[in-house]
Amino acid sequence: MTPKLILIAARGANGCIGRDGRLPWRVKADLKRFKEMTRHKPVLMGRKTWESIGKPLPGRDNLVLTRDPHFRAPGGFTYPSLEALLAAGRAMALAKGVDEVCVIGGATLYEATMPIADRLALTEIDLSPQGDAFFPDFDQTLWTETARETLPRGEQDDAMAVLRIFERRGPSSSSPR
Ligand SMILES: NC(=O)c1ccc[n+]([C@@H]2O[C@H](COP(=O)([O-])OP(=O)(O)OC[C@H]3O[C@@H](n4cnc5c(N)ncnc54)[C@H](OP(=O)(O)O)[C@@H]3O)[C@@H](O)[C@H]2O)c1
Repeated sequence: MTPKLILIAARGANGCIGRDGRLPWRVKADLKRFKEMTRHKPVLMGRKTWESIGKPLPGRDNLVLTRDPHFRAPGGFTYPSLEALLAAGRAMALAKGVDEVCVIGGATLYEATMPIADRLALTEIDLSPQGDAFFPDFDQTLWTETARETLPRGEQDDAMAVLRIFERRGPSSSSPR
């Protein structure tokens, strides 16, 4: 069975996902949910997101996309093309016996994988911060919202957050026909 491809992102009400290489908010409940959703699964990311996290996410295979053949990601793996990244992510998921591969950003990776994603796990942050990275627009008629949950707001959190899950209605463009 081909593992499902899940896009996991947090976006502001204006679509913003990042500023100066960082998240433009602090929402602990979302980080906790992110950890739960990605546990034991391969996480696929662009080089800038890898650098913004600053270290490999523990307990998960960290796969990084970069065109720079000299770039090293200690504790992770690098790939020169989206095809190689996806193939390796799927192979690692199968080897670990998990049924999902997670794309965790940033904007470039979300944009590139949206046409082949099976599920979106989108945390809507109730803020519209200024930023320089945005979640791509997606055609909601192609997706069914299957779950919605308001995350518990911690004392230190900057805003309310709602986790929404969308499943693709038809086959993704990567599905066998
Ligand atoms: N809110 C969220 O959920 C969330 C999640 C993740 C990230 N973010 C934010 O998003 C921002 C980063 O996003 P971003 O779009 O600027 O960067 P990114 O997607 O993390 O990384 C872009 C880099 O990936 C590599 N790349 C992209 N497409 C490629 C391809 N087809 N082949 C080979 N390499 C490719 C290139 O690396 P090289 O330049 O090395 O070639 C490119 O510069 C940050 O602000 C981060 O905090 C937010």
